[in-house]
Amino acid sequence: MAQTLRKQVFTMADQSELVEEINELKSQRHAIILAHNYQLPEIQDIADALGDSLGLSRQAAATDAETIVFCGVHFMAESAKLLCPDKTVLMPDTGAGCPMADMITADQLREFKAQHPGAPVVAYVNTTAAVKAESDICCTSSNSVQVVRSLPEETILFVPDINLGDWTQEQVPEKNIIRYPGHCAPHLNIRPEFIRRLKEEHPEAVVMAHPECVKQVRDLADVITSTGGMVKFAAETDAKEMIVGTEQGLVYRLQQENPDKTFYPIQQALCPNMKKTTLPKVLGALKNMTGEITIAPEVADKARRSVERMIELG
Ligand code: 13P
Ligand code: SF4
Repeated sequence: MAQTLRKQVFTMADQSELVEEINELKSQRHAIILAHNYQLPEIQDIADALGDSLGLSRQAAATDAETIVFCGVHFMAESAKLLCPDKTVLMPDTGAGCPMADMITADQLREFKAQHPGAPVVAYVNTTAAVKAESDICCTSSNSVQVVRSLPEETILFVPDINLGDWTQEQVPEKNIIRYPGHCAPHLNIRPEFIRRLKEEHPEAVVMAHPECVKQVRDLADVITSTGGMVKFAAETDAKEMIVGTEQGLVYRLQQENPDKTFYPIQQALCPNMKKTTLPKVLGALKNMTGEITIAPEVADKARRSVERMIELG
């Protein structure tokens, strides 16, 4: 027991030393740390800005820092680089990918387009730059409805998340959205029975679900929204208890910002890639300027147009 306690004290001292070094290097490098809402608590704590995919793209576009340390997954850091081509974007662990983004390649998208000639492509930002370059406009889980409505065409291709595509189709019945069959495994792990069980245990709790969840889960939700939407909802609602139907990392932020409310995570909803970024890796990236994101110019120019079109919608 005494040994365990000593170990914890040592670990915390270690951690604060790391944080100190990170902060020093951050100001030397004129850097900013952007972190997604699913990051580990210690990464959320050192972030200059925390957010969902859309919020972080906006932060990247607005910053005057010279270097962006992006704590999230690869497609998010790529989006930051697309919007800030003159800045250095570093990823503390470049192996942090999004398996859903890898479910469609540029070749597969070209094939999909050939099967539906004339239909514009809406690409969820959870895609590679090469796929964005083959698309007409991007969307995130906070603006997919607005993006689809902004297009004059009736038939629209939507890649790669079938659940976000299905949910968007439900909101915009006047369009014919042809969905690609990609999915997010951590969100598929959220089973309707888990929500029902939590609801039985906490009957007063409001259910929030991410649109990447399957329909049977979305049907049990009071609110369906992005992680940024959940942060906003949790702050504004009078409800005191919430079941959080998304990757469990968000619960740390929700609890920090709403200490008087209680949040129930779905333990099975875990994205291992979002947990690859650690304090030593952030320090390493800043110290050695490693993990730089680069995108071939011919891909970047086209991909940037798709992201900018989305941002211009407001
Ligand atoms: P948000 O944009 O809602 O944060 O979602 C990103 C993501 O990867 C969901 O799994
Ligand atoms: Fe990708 Fe899902 Fe992880 Fe989000 S939670 S990064 S969509 S695998």
